[in-house]
Amino acid sequence: MSSNFEYPGKIGLAPMAGITSRPFRKICSLWGAEFSYTEMISAESVLRAFKVVQKMLPDEEEKNVAVQLFGNDPNRMAQAAKVVEPFACWININAACPAKKVLKKGSGGALLKDLERLKAIISAVKNAVQRPVTVKVRIGFEENELEKIMQVCIDAGADGVEVHGRTVEQGYGGKAIWDLKLDQYEVATVISGDIYEPQDVEKALSISGAQAVLIARGALRKPWIFAQLKGKNPTVEEIKNMFLLHLKMLIDLEGPRSFYKLRQFVAGYTHGMPGARMFRERFMLANSPEEQQQLINEFFNQLLMNNQENEVVKPIEELSKEV
Ligand SMILES: Cc1cc2nc3c(=O)[nH]c(=O)nc-3n(C[C@H](O)[C@H](O)[C@H](O)COP(=O)(O)O)c2cc1C
Repeated sequence: MSSNFEYPGKIGLAPMAGITSRPFRKICSLWGAEFSYTEMISAESVLRAFKVVQKMLPDEEEKNVAVQLFGNDPNRMAQAAKVVEPFACWININAACPAKKVLKKGSGGALLKDLERLKAIISAVKNAVQRPVTVKVRIGFEENELEKIMQVCIDAGADGVEVHGRTVEQGYGGKAIWDLKLDQYEVATVISGDIYEPQDVEKALSISGAQAVLIARGALRKPWIFAQLKGKNPTVEEIKNMFLLHLKMLIDLEGPRSFYKLRQFVAGYTHGMPGARMFRERFMLANSPEEQQQLINEFFNQLLMNNQENEVVKPIEELSKEV
């Protein structure tokens, strides 16, 4: 059962709970990510508390965003998929999450131990929606059983499979496996895991046989990685503007009290910069969006002043070499 679906690009931002909300997806897309995913959203909350969930869905400005759902009941997953379909470029089913509270309910990575249920979920969602349906999996629960898992996804009619090259039991530790011969399967595939530097992309693509890669922790560590993957080194000024834009989008979406959510991104936005450690310490103590904005301006303007040569701002990678 093959499908004509292709991922809309070679480099995507991976789904990350608590991270890939609208503002961060938009920032990564501005840097050059070609597609992205929402954080994982429970099918039950879509059906019972849609108002709460709505903020997690892509808005009309966003392109190429998949909505990721998790759950254990094929009918509920299908109903939820129908509700989010108008917002989604495609629907993505989570069969990968290793979090205990998700596994306990038989969802996420637990579906890899119950392949009949996974198959029923994929079929039910496929039957309920018109948009493509893909499945994010790991290579197995305890050991590598990817061939079996891929066959189940393909038989159930999945249009694509995103493969994180670790087992569920591994969590996020150990090295991700790329050598998975994904080109043998008659379905579009994406490889995820340990892609941090520009040279990793081609390596991961050629070793895995996948059509595209997903970047997760690499984007958190250095949000402008997507620009670098396209051969562009951003300037300090561009990074400052993105940081401020992120703050603005966060407050516009979730209100001024959500400012603390920016704290988890401060290490990324100041990656490799001189004086970053002290700045981060001060930033973590800032108690309002206004204070955060002032600190960002002060830190980056100082950096710009120290490094201005004939008004040309040095690429950030050059700056980090000077640290
Ligand atoms: C903080 C965090 C949250 C994550 N949340 C999700 C999620 O909601 N859904 C999902 O399918 N994968 C999730 N993942 C897994 C990533 O999408 C990715 O497959 C994994 O981190 C491997 O890529 P990396 O080695 O580049 O980080 C998450 C990873 C991290 C680090």
